[in-house]
Amino acid sequence: MKAENIRQNTENRYQKDKTVQMKAAGEKNRSGLKVMAGLIGMIRPLLGFMLLAVLMGCTGNLMATFITVLGGYGLLTAAGLYEGMSLGLIFTCILVFAVARGILRYAEQSSNHFIAFKLLARIRHQVFAALRRLAPAKLSGSEKGNLISIITSDIELLEVFYAHTISPIAIAVITSVVMTVFIGRMHPAAGLVAVCGYVLVGIVIPVLNSRAGAGSGKKYRDMFGDINTTVLDNLYGLEEILQYGQKDGRMAAMALETERLEAVNGKLKKDESRQRIVTDWVILLAGIVMAVVCGYFVQAGQMRAAQGVICVIAIMSSFGPTAALSALSNNLNHTLASGRRVLDLLEETPVVTEITGGEAVSSGDIHCADVSFSYKDAGAETAGVLENFNYTFTPNRIHGILGKSGCGKSTLLKLLMRFYETDDGKINYGGADVNRINTTALRNHIAYVTQDTFLFHDTIENNIRVAREDASRDAVVAAAKKASIHDFIMSLPKGYDTRLGELGDHISGGEKQRIGIARAFLHDSEVILLDEPTSNIDSLNEGIILSSLKKEADDRTVILVSHRASTMGIAQDVLRM
Ligand SMILES: Nc1ncnc2c1ncn2[C@@H]1O[C@H](COP(=O)(O)OP(=O)(O)OP(=O)(O)O)[C@@H](O)[C@H]1O
Ligand SMILES: [Mg+2]
Repeated sequence: MKAENIRQNTENRYQKDKTVQMKAAGEKNRSGLKVMAGLIGMIRPLLGFMLLAVLMGCTGNLMATFITVLGGYGLLTAAGLYEGMSLGLIFTCILVFAVARGILRYAEQSSNHFIAFKLLARIRHQVFAALRRLAPAKLSGSEKGNLISIITSDIELLEVFYAHTISPIAIAVITSVVMTVFIGRMHPAAGLVAVCGYVLVGIVIPVLNSRAGAGSGKKYRDMFGDINTTVLDNLYGLEEILQYGQKDGRMAAMALETERLEAVNGKLKKDESRQRIVTDWVILLAGIVMAVVCGYFVQAGQMRAAQGVICVIAIMSSFGPTAALSALSNNLNHTLASGRRVLDLLEETPVVTEITGGEAVSSGDIHCADVSFSYKDAGAETAGVLENFNYTFTPNRIHGILGKSGCGKSTLLKLLMRFYETDDGKINYGGADVNRINTTALRNHIAYVTQDTFLFHDTIENNIRVAREDASRDAVVAAAKKASIHDFIMSLPKGYDTRLGELGDHISGGEKQRIGIARAFLHDSEVILLDEPTSNIDSLNEGIILSSLKKEADDRTVILVSHRASTMGIAQDVLRM
């Protein structure tokens, strides 16, 4: 019974999440062709290499076909049915083609991969730039797993597109045209049979196959992203899961997601084998039809027997590039789904746009006038978090903010950081509108200690230094002293060089917070925003931090959110929200 409930819950959550995600992402339903065009557009800087790869691919494939065709001529010559070339010339040509074919294949593949990996590097760069634009609003959502699968597997899959899709399409088109002309010169009807064969194998089958599997490809990629999210959730939440006996439920949910993924994967594999079987049959059929047609015209005296044989050999040995194209359609669904997700991310409009070439940030009052704001997550607007909020934070003072949980204190700090833009009203720094101040300058002007400090897998020193990269060791130590964390750091065997990864989870909540505060002291900016900075810190250490803060506040604006009366004690003004 319990397992059944869990399954049902997972099912409901899954359906709900899907609609919410679709709305949130404002998903563009771009067609496969548009995705291809978007991806091809990125090749421009490497067009020369692409043309070279296509040229080598065409020559190589034609040589491979003509090795068989020349073999046919050889047999006909030996049988005395053909006199156009000597046997010696034919075998020399076959030998040269065979060697050249190998070299050309290698060169084609290596330039394709050169293009692919150069492009992947560029795309990764663009994706990280996009994440920078979209953060932090994007990263605060529940989409981390999805983002991870875009950064890792989706971009990786585009290799298939750049190395194994574009040039094969061009190669298939060009070699098919050449072979049609070659066969058509013997008899137009034979040429027509060839065209039909190439179009069926190279266009009709892949298009139908893609169409049949289009939904599954995208579904597979999306589900893969969802599983990533679930795995991350389970890893991060391991302690809660064990504590509250959620193990079975979580396992069942995970199993259900895996089952779904397997089902979609199964469908994709089925499509793939069907495509292969149909392609092989069509190639065989083309050979038979060609033999019948040529036989008819040979009988009718419109074609020589040798020509008929060559036509059949030529068509049977020339399906390599088109068959490869047909096989591509299986991966194409995966590839286009990945391409679509990458392009969507690259083109997503950020909640706030970075400002460059705007105003410098000026000192003075921070003035909030009639500020209203609500989160527009998940397509549905939440009720107003802030409504007509008015307040002025004057410099050289410590401003305390009190208010019940969820009333919007952290949100106000995020608006001051311009992580989000206000819906209505204005925030001004010394008269300059926050929406016109250069973003980098604004963030440099403010030190922001969030409610939970994130620590990187790096040394403690570097973890503090993220606040000011050029800071000396002495400055880092001074900041650590102000944040009352120096003694703790010195008690570690490697002191400031201790890597936080080595400590694992052994660092306490209060120690983490103090490292966050040390960062703020090191950042040395005019405005300091502190969101519950001392919630996990004992009164002795709190006292040290607060007295450092008091000294620092002399020529700064400090805004301090706290529920603790002892912390609020140092505030000179208190705002009740
Ligand atoms: N990224 C978000 N998307 C949607 N809603 C959010 C988001 N962040 C916060 N909220 C909601 O906005 C409201 C205000 O949140 P906020 O974090 O500002 O509260 P707070 O006053 O800092 O509370 P606390 O004292 O518990 O830290 C809450 O109802 C919260 O659920
Ligand atoms: Mg808060």
